[in-house]
Order: sequence, then C-alpha cells, then structure tokens
Amino acid sequence: MTDLLTPVLSEQWGEPNSWKLARYEATGGYRAMRTALTMQPVDLVNLVKDANLRGRGGAGFPTGMKWSFVPQDNPNPKYLVVNADESEPGTCKDIPLMMATPHTLVEGIIVSAYAINCHTAFIYCRGEVLHVIRRLQQAVREAYAAGYLGKNILGTGYDLDIIVHAGAGAYICGEETALLDSLEGRRGQPRLRPPFPAVAGLYASPTVVNNVESISSVPAIVNHGAEWFQSMGTEKSKGFTLYSLSGHIKTPGQFEAPMGVTLRELIELGGGMRDGHELKFFTPGGSSTPILTPEHLDLPMDYEGMAAAGSMLGTKALQIFDDTTSVVRTTLRFVEFYKHESCGKCTPCREGTWWLVQLLMKFEAGTAMEGDVDKLLDICDNIGGRSFCALADGAVAAVTSAVRHFRSEFEAGYHTPAWELFPYEKSALF
Ligand code: NAI
Repeated sequence: MTDLLTPVLSEQWGEPNSWKLARYEATGGYRAMRTALTMQPVDLVNLVKDANLRGRGGAGFPTGMKWSFVPQDNPNPKYLVVNADESEPGTCKDIPLMMATPHTLVEGIIVSAYAINCHTAFIYCRGEVLHVIRRLQQAVREAYAAGYLGKNILGTGYDLDIIVHAGAGAYICGEETALLDSLEGRRGQPRLRPPFPAVAGLYASPTVVNNVESISSVPAIVNHGAEWFQSMGTEKSKGFTLYSLSGHIKTPGQFEAPMGVTLRELIELGGGMRDGHELKFFTPGGSSTPILTPEHLDLPMDYEGMAAAGSMLGTKALQIFDDTTSVVRTTLRFVEFYKHESCGKCTPCREGTWWLVQLLMKFEAGTAMEGDVDKLLDICDNIGGRSFCALADGAVAAVTSAVRHFRSEFEAGYHTPAWELFPYEKSALF
C-alpha cells in the first residue's frame, strides 16, 4: 500500500532538524525561489494555472486563477495572506506541515507574493498553537538573515516582508473575510462577498488569501513543472495532497497521496479499522462536509467524486466512525461546535444552531417527539443558504446528511436514549 504515498510535502517530516534552514537547503530548499525570481510574475501565475493546483483549504478554487484576479492596475498595495487558522474539526494537516518544514511555506510565500506583485505577506495562525507560531517566527527570522526576505532579495530588486500574526482562537477567523477583519484589528466577522478579497481585501486592497498547503505546494510545482503535477491525481483534481485520518482506525495520521485515492485505500494505509468493527460512516472533509457511508468506500477522494456522492472533499479530513458510534450523538457534538463558534452576526446561524442543539439533545436523551425529525430538517431548511458565510451551512450539512443516511436512528430518539443503543464505553471517541 505504501506505493500509494506521494511524499512531496511530507517527505522530510520526522527527519532531524527538518524545520531548520540548513537542513531545508541541504534537501533542495529555496531552489524554487531562485528560479522564480528570474521569471516574469505572469509566467508564474500561468505555471500554477497550468498545473491546475486547486485551493487546499477546502473549497478547491483554482489557485492560479485566484492570483490572476488581482487587478495589477490598482494603485493600492497587493497583499498575500496565508490562512493558517486551521480549525475545521478533524483537520490537522497544516499544523504538522508548519511544524516540520516551515521553510516550505516561507519559500512558497516568496514565490507566490512575487507572482502577484506583493511586498507584504501575512501568515494568520491560530492563537492556540503557540509552538507553531514560534516555529514560523524562527523560520522567518532565518530567512531574513539569509537574505531571502527583506529588501532587494538576492540582489534581484524584489522586496518582501512576512509578518506572522497570531489569531485569538475563533473558528470563524478561518473564514477569509472574518480573518481579514481580525487582521485589521477588529472582531472577526465575515464580510459580504463580492467583492472577493482578490479585488478588495485587507485594507480594501487586492488580497490573495490562500491556505498553507496550497502555498506550500507551489515550490514543488516551480521545481518540477506543471506537467509533473498534472501527472498525479484525477482528470479535474490534480496533484498530491495531505489527507488527515482520525477516529476508529488503528493508526490515525496524515497521509500524502494523489488526489482521487479511495477511502478504502486510505483506511488500509491507516492500518485498517479497529479489530472486530466495521465502518459505519465518515466525514470526507471535516464535519462541515456531509457524512458518507460504506457504499462510498471506493469513490475517488477528489472534488468530483465527493460531489457526485452528495458531499464535498473539503479539507480532506476523514473522521472515521465504526459501528459502536451513535450518529445522533456525533451529530449533536458537531452542531454544538458550530453553535459555540457562531460569531452571532446573522440570525439564521446564531439562533438556528442553538435550536438545532436543543432538539438534538432531545434525540440523544430519547425524549424527542413524533415528527421531530421533520422539525429538525425544517430548521435546517431555514438556516442553509440563508446565513452570511459557510459556517451555518456546515452545521446543516452534518444534520441533513445524518438524517438522510440514518433516519431510523433519529426516530429511535422518540423513545430510547442514544447511550442505551450505543454505550459510551464501546466508542472510544466520545
Ligand atoms: P468559496 O468557494 O466561496 O471560496 C473559495 C475561494 O475562492 C475564496 O478564497 C474566494 O475568495 C475565492 N473565490 C470564489 N469565487 C471567486 C470569484 N468570483 N472571484 C474571486 N475569488 C473568488 O469558499 P469559502 O466560503 O471561502 O470556504 C468554504 C470552504 O472552507 C469549505 O469548503 C470548507 O471545507 C472550508 N473550511 C476549511 C476550514 C479549515 O480549517 N481549513 C474551516 C472551515 C471551512
């Protein structure tokens, strides 16, 4: 099975001092930067477009296309903001990447910033992960000392500063416009789009917001070319990517594989299911993506495969649940998270997630009433697509998909508590 792995981003993970500049350079680091700084910015944009790198933060928007939206005739400064506020439940790929090889990200930022004519870049990192923030700061300091950042980088005349910014630990600040508000010093709440940040973002200036993994994939594309990147993956979802596996499997962790690998293959890479238990359901890309079931085990884990199954690839955070798990209890835990993290700006999300939790608690306790499943779906109907940003849609996706696949388990909540059907002690997760 290990021949499925395509370690590019994760190649140096676990190697001694992989986070230090000397080690990074000894393994070919900063070659892409040297090449890129001899190229025309527009050629770099076209290279990333040709590679068809799609945003790894969850939405899969083509990265090169996003860069090309930056209006170069706008007299304002252009900004690059790396979204390192990884918070989607189950998602844990950017943090190990930044811990193990922060210079991949720094190099990716230099190349990407140069491509969009930007001279100030930010890394917006979750405030809780102080160890990551320190590691990023150390890498940025090393890059300045080596002349890779600051004024006149390597004598090319190109200037770039990178600022590592610590968020304060709010899920909503991973939403790109809330992130920008937070970076500007305000309470992080989403803005209406359009205008998209590429046109009017930080300080109302053109701003590219890209995920850590997306930016970190750029140096390899510069080194090996678009065709090499295109040689991996499926027809419309190209390249390698990091899948996060957690839950009821033997060896959870990060697995770097081509786009389009199947869940069955990933579970095998993760050592298989817990002994004596079967897969019951899984999230393909964190709890914001509709859950899927064993019938979807052999679908390609790419944007198209997951959409065809009625879900989304999202952050590729596969949370695996076996037959000991109560889907009602899991859904409640998911929705409690969204209720807690709702920024409160818009009513459908603020009130709706609260109501969903109230009702789901009844299902868990076995005190729901006949017809409450329909009430649950009705509340979802009044939230989905009616809120400012995608946060509430995530909560709705968890509920509607759980009811779609396991309606009878919800109906059991009219008379039987979930803990009787699925005792806690059997499920190691909750
Ligand atoms: P989206 O599809 O609205 O936008 C994706 C990106 O494309 C954004 O950067 C947006 O500015 C850009 N874009 C889209 N249309 C554009 C246009 N016409 N012109 C210029 N730029 C355009 O998705 P959104 O709401 O930004 O993100 C939702 C995704 O985030 C979900 O798929 C979810 O999986 C993921 N997510 C990830 C988290 C994490 O921790 N990594 C946390 C929560 C959600």
